[in-house]
Order: sequence, then C-alpha cells, then structure tokens
Amino acid sequence: MRKASSTNTKQMVVGWSGREDAGMMLLIPSDVLRPRRPDEHFAPEAEAARAAGIEVALVDHDALVAPEGAARAVARVPQGGEAVYRGWMVSAERYAAFDAALARRGITLRTGTEQFRRAHELPGWYADLRTVTPPSVWTAGDDRAGFDQARAELGAGPAVLRDHVKSMKHYWHEAAFIPELADADAAWAVATRFRELRGDDMAGGFVLRRFERFVSAEVRTWWVDGVCRLVTSHPDTPDRPSPDDVDLAPVEPLVAGLGLPFVTVDLAIRADGVWRIIELGDGQVSDRPRSMPPEALITVLFGNRRAAQSFGEVAG
Ligand SMILES: Nc1ncnc2c1ncn2[C@@H]1O[C@H](COP(=O)(O)OP(=O)(O)O)[C@@H](O)[C@H]1O
Ligand SMILES: [Mg+2]
Repeated sequence: MRKASSTNTKQMVVGWSGREDAGMMLLIPSDVLRPRRPDEHFAPEAEAARAAGIEVALVDHDALVAPEGAARAVARVPQGGEAVYRGWMVSAERYAAFDAALARRGITLRTGTEQFRRAHELPGWYADLRTVTPPSVWTAGDDRAGFDQARAELGAGPAVLRDHVKSMKHYWHEAAFIPELADADAAWAVATRFRELRGDDMAGGFVLRRFERFVSAEVRTWWVDGVCRLVTSHPDTPDRPSPDDVDLAPVEPLVAGLGLPFVTVDLAIRADGVWRIIELGDGQVSDRPRSMPPEALITVLFGNRRAAQSFGEVAG
C-alpha cells in the first residue's frame, strides 16, 4: 500500500520545505569518493532529469544498506515532495528504512515499501502472473528439508534455481540449472553452491522454476502506472535490436492488475512461439541497457516538466 495519495502529498508539500518548488525529485546514489556528485553509473539519468527540469538529489548507498544508516543516507535530500529512486538494488528491508527516513523529511517515495517488495521479490508478483511465466515454487529459508519439499512440489524434470530476488545465472551449470529435480543430491549440490555464491545477499529463500526453452534474446519492457511505455533490449544483450513485435496483449491486464507505479518486465519467446515473462522487477533498481537513452526513461517517469511549463501547464 502506498503511504499517501498524490493529493495528500501536495498538501504535505505546502509549508514544508520553504523551497519554492517542492515537486518531483529523482534520487540517485552519490559517487563513493566524491559524495557531491552522482555515481557515474547513474550520472546520465541525473543529467537527463536536470535537463528536463526535475530536481536531482543524492543518496549515500553505503549508508543506505548499512543497519541504521537510512537517515544518514538521505541527509542531503531536500525536504518535501515526491521522489523516484534510480539506483543500486537494495533489499525490501532496506527500502522500508529508506522510505521511513524520507517520510521523516516529508518526502513520499512514489513506490511505497509494500509495492517495492511485491515487485522486487518473486513471491510478490508470481500469483498474478502465473499463467504467463514458468511454474515456480519457493521456500522461506535455505535448509534442505524445505528445498526437498519444493522440489517434490514442482515434480520431476529440469528446473532453474534462484532466490526471491536474483539468480546466479553467470554460474549456470554450477548454481542455476538443475538438469533433473528427481536427482535429489545433484539438485541439492546446485542449491548449496547457489547459497554459497549469494552469501549475505541471499534473499528470502530458494525459488525453483520449471525449465522452459527460450529461443530469443530477452526484451526489457518498462511500465509506468500499469502501462508499457518503453520496450528495450535487455541489459545483458544491449546491442540486440529491441523487437517491435512483442506480444504484450496477454500480459497487459495482468501487469496493470498489480497496481505498481514503476516496474520492468523481462520477456522472451519460448520454443512454441509464445512470449513468456522471465521476471518482473522494481523499475527503480532495474538496470538500463546502455543502448537506452536516459532521456527516454526520464520522460516516461516525469514527463518533460520544462517543456510543459513553457506551454503554461502545471507539470508533475
Ligand atoms: N524457467 C526458466 N527456464 C529457462 N531459462 C530460465 C528460466 N528462468 C530463468 N531462466 C534464464 O536464467 C536467466 C536468469 O533468470 P532471472 O530470473 O532473470 O534472474 P536474474 O534476476 O538473475 O536476472 C534468465 O535471463 C533466463 O535466461
Ligand atoms: Mg533477469
């Protein structure tokens, strides 16, 4: 659930900050060595936002992920207004602390804590998308008993392993692909290696997904308020042209039904020609393929405030 409606946000903004224009803000991680500058990975988006008349504020990522660090992380963020974050991945727990620290400064994250969790963690979106994504089961922890139970639930055959948030896809044969779920010890060896590689980043528990054969590169689609606004290549294959024939009709009402402000949905074509969802993620922490112009993303997130103002409209 969101913290406040946009009407409430505007009421909060009045009289809060003393800033002339406490409107929409983009939050970006600061550079580790030069804290007054944006992290170079996100600098193009910061620049595009400023050019579009959107205020940019910097967040200390290391503080954000440290226990009790959230208030320190947002100490440089001006008070009041509504914010969208674009930055490194954080856990749902850290996002909750971020959201709370910003709220104490009168700032509402457009994506509330519960919305972030529902997008960021597979169990949050799976039920709504189950007809268009590989069948999946998950555990709450990382013990073998739970894993074996999940394995039995999914049934025999090949599977792909991840946790609630991420896979170890770059260690495919060691820690992602399970050739046969019925082979209990071999499957557990993959899970053990996965857990070891994920270390402290292990999120929630194991997820086992039925293996489906995909025959295309992945496509990343960007959704604002339940509408697909951009189709790009996937960050892993940024130089593949983004196809213009993605069949989104079957997934559109399902993604819209989630009621999330800003998400990405990765899709690929299965061997039988059907477009399938590989995963959904929170748009704030989804990597932008280097082939995607930052202005495109800023425009779908904020509109062009400066252009709108020059036409005498009220933006934001
Ligand atoms: N059920 C599946 N069947 C076949 N391949 C899969 C399946 N799930 C994931 N993959 C492959 O594994 C990769 C990583 O999975 P994904 O869920 O996107 O995790 P990550 O968050 O690490 O990107 C995908 O890009 C896809 O190539
Ligand atoms: Mg992925």
